[in-house]
Order: sequence, then C-alpha cells, then structure tokens
Amino acid sequence: MKQTPDCAFVIFGITGDLAARKLLPALYQLCLKGRIHPKTEIVGYARSDLTRDALRNRLTESLRNFEPDFDEKIWSSLVDRIHYVQGDYEHESGFESLRNFLDSLGLQNRIFYTATPPDTYEGIALGIAGAGLNYSSGFTRLIVEKPFGSDLGSAQRLNASILKNFKEDQIYRIDHYLAKETAQNLAVLRFANTLLEPIWSNKYIDNIQITMAEPMGMEGRGSFYEQTGVIRDVIQNHLLQLVALIAMEPPLDYNAINVRNEKVKVFDAIKDIGPDKAILGQYSASGEMIGYRAEDGVSPHSHQATFAAIRLDILNSRWSGVPFFIRSGKRLEAKFTQIVIALKAAQKIPFAQTSNLESDRIVLRLGPNEGIALQVNSKIPGQGMNLNRINLNFSYDSNIDHPIPDAYETLLCDALMGDATLFVRADEVEGQWRIIGPLIKHVDLSPEEPHFYPAGTQGPKAADMFLEAQDRQWHPAEN
Ligand code: BG6
Repeated sequence: MKQTPDCAFVIFGITGDLAARKLLPALYQLCLKGRIHPKTEIVGYARSDLTRDALRNRLTESLRNFEPDFDEKIWSSLVDRIHYVQGDYEHESGFESLRNFLDSLGLQNRIFYTATPPDTYEGIALGIAGAGLNYSSGFTRLIVEKPFGSDLGSAQRLNASILKNFKEDQIYRIDHYLAKETAQNLAVLRFANTLLEPIWSNKYIDNIQITMAEPMGMEGRGSFYEQTGVIRDVIQNHLLQLVALIAMEPPLDYNAINVRNEKVKVFDAIKDIGPDKAILGQYSASGEMIGYRAEDGVSPHSHQATFAAIRLDILNSRWSGVPFFIRSGKRLEAKFTQIVIALKAAQKIPFAQTSNLESDRIVLRLGPNEGIALQVNSKIPGQGMNLNRINLNFSYDSNIDHPIPDAYETLLCDALMGDATLFVRADEVEGQWRIIGPLIKHVDLSPEEPHFYPAGTQGPKAADMFLEAQDRQWHPAEN
C-alpha cells in the first residue's frame, strides 16, 4: 500500500468528541499500516488553555478506550508528532499563531479539518484565508464535516463564502456513509459484473428500501438534535447519498468528477419531498428508557422528528414507477443499516406451488456484519417440486482475515492522497437540501404532533401502514 505524502494535518477542535472517537483512531490505524509519512505532523487547534503534553496525555487516554488493540509503540511514533495551537475561530490572532507554527514546521502540504460545531465552519475557512494559508507551494485542502448548512439557503451561502477563498477541488465535504465498504462495493457489484446491471431498473425492480435504525437516544446531543432532527441529521446526507449510489448511471471512469456528475443527475431527477410522502415519529418513554421530550436539552413540547419514513421517486426512464422507501430513527429496537432491492414477481411459475412465493431480493448490509445476500426461491431436496427460500450470503467478517477499515480511516487516507471521490461536491449538497426542503419546512413550522412510538420498538405503526397503503411491507433486519 502506498504511503500518503508528508503533510501538516491541522485538526480544528482537537479537544472534541469527533477527534477523540474518529480522527485519532483513524490516524493511528493509518500509522499502524505504514501509510502515514514519517514527516507528517498533526497540529491540534482549539480554544482550551492546554499545554502540548496535556493534550498528548488526554489523547493517549482516549485512544486507549477507543482502540481495542492499542499498541504503545505505534502510538508513541504518532503522539510525538502531535502539537497544539490555542486559538478561537473568530479572531485573526489564533490563525496568525497557526500560520507561524506551520511556517516553523516547514511542510508545504497542508490539510485543515473542521472537527468543530457547524457554526464555526465559515469563520474557520475565512480565518485560514485571512492568514494567507489557503494556498501554498504544496497542496492545501479543507475537510468540512457535516452538517453542511441547515437548509438550501444556508448551504448555498456557506458554499459561496468558502468558494471565495478555496477552489472546489480543495474542498472535501464529509459524508462518512460514502466510505462504508458496502456503499463503495455497490458500484463494483453493479459495474464489474454482468449479473446485476441488466435487472437494475424499473423493468425488474419493484421497490427499494433503505433502513438506518439506531437503538441509542440522544446521549448528550439533545440540543443539537432539537435543531436537526432525523431528516437533517441522516436523511439529507447519508440516506440520499445511498440513493444516488444505487440509482446512478455507470460513470465513464470511477473518479471524483464522473461519479459526482452521475450522482448530481440522480438528485436532479428526484422530486421534492413534501409532508404527504413522509411519516414522522418521535420516541416516547418505555420501560427504563426516557422519551425524547425528557432528554437533556430538549423542549418538553418538542415536535422534532426522531423517526422518518419517506417515499421518494426518481423521475427518469430507469427508475420511474419504482418507489424508494427510506426510513431512519433513534431509539429503535436494534442497530442496522441495510438496503433491500426487491425484485418483481416471476412472470409465470410452472410449478404447482405458486402461492405464498416471495419474489427475489438483494440485501446489502452496511452494518453490523457488512455484506450482501441474495434471497431466492429454491427446491426443497426430496421428491416433488416443493419450494422454499434460500439465502446466499456473503459477509466480510467471515471472508477476509483483517477487520474492514472504519469509514474515517478511508476518508482521511483519501484526503491525504487527493482523491475526492468519496466526498460531496457543492452541487450535490445543494441538490440534497433542495429535495428535502418542503419536508424540513413543514417540520420546522408544523404545529402537528409527530407519531409517537415507544423507545426500543420498530418505530410508529403509521410507518407500517404507510407502506401497506402502497401494497408493500418493510423488510426486517437481516443480520
Ligand atoms: C452521524 C449522525 O452522521 O451518523 C448520528 O449525526 C448517527 O446521529 C451516526 O448516529 C451513525 O453513523 P454509523 O456509522 O454509526 O451508522
């Protein structure tokens, strides 16, 4: 595997949760695999008054918690290269200290990562440019975390502001779902085989379902979630990106320009989603679990949706007539993210047993137990042509001898290598906000109560009825 180029990797918000839970473990894994250049230096930036040693101790402690196979030797080769610059995100002085520090390192390749609250992204981009750090004789890249804006207007303003000082190809907008192995594999399964592409259209597919279910509640994110809710938190980004990967036309070459061009065409063909195409829910108390309205930072009268089930339609010749059903929720029964491609029923079945036969399904599991299954009808061994269901199942865990990389490891490595294929372009993010615009407006302004569901269940009954009314049923979790 190729080593990434030497670089000064600046993490704004080094003292925060994202840096501890995702970024440092990803850098550690890349170091373990020999992919981090020996001259690469990590520069943490935050408001806290901390010494470099205090930061290093803190990061060491948290890495011990997040890395089950923590190796002291590997970590010490990385931790010695972690530095700290104190500053805020609004004033020039912090960015000037940063510039002086970067000058002292003498590294011309630079990456800036905004692991900070979303309202700081614009100030950080301006601060970097104000200190003259937006270009160098090497490469300069800006990685922007999600959420990118909170509606179409704010996303457009943020894009316009950042694009005043950075070129689009310097900007790497994060959506970690794009880097999940099964999400990346979608293109390979479709375009490197002859099996799937011929059936990948309204001719053979009846409907497509994407479910992202999570058992956890707010865990300290209540006030953030009051502003976002499930639609802004995961549907506008992760789930719409999966829709685009499923629905896009084959790109000429699998690279950042072509793949993103194809995804934008999918977004352009999706009708805006209004409240008539959605069921919105909110979890209520159940057993030991408190309801959403009792979470810290949440209004006791909140109408925010912690669950949504949505139908969307893609109005192009490949997909018209195939509903895409997407749903996601917090405090559901189990954690799973899966895509189900449900095929139409076989046309004429020449066996006596024709009733109660289910049609074929392709199930793509994004976690847990990432993998793919093909569910088809098959003969029961023995006399007679009796049929039952079989599951042809591939799971990464039992077929590869090393753990699959966390999405952030893939993303950091790609950003260091200058490959933006798994990052979101300005026109994609704006297209995604446009699609859910009417729905978020409705949620923000609506006096209606959401459908309540007891914490730890499968979501509101109304979501089941929503599909039943369209002669379909949700496919259960396949693990
Ligand atoms: C994040 C959301 O983007 O994705 C969280 O903000 C969510 O609310 C998380 O829990 C889920 O990611 P994963 O990789 O655990 O499915």
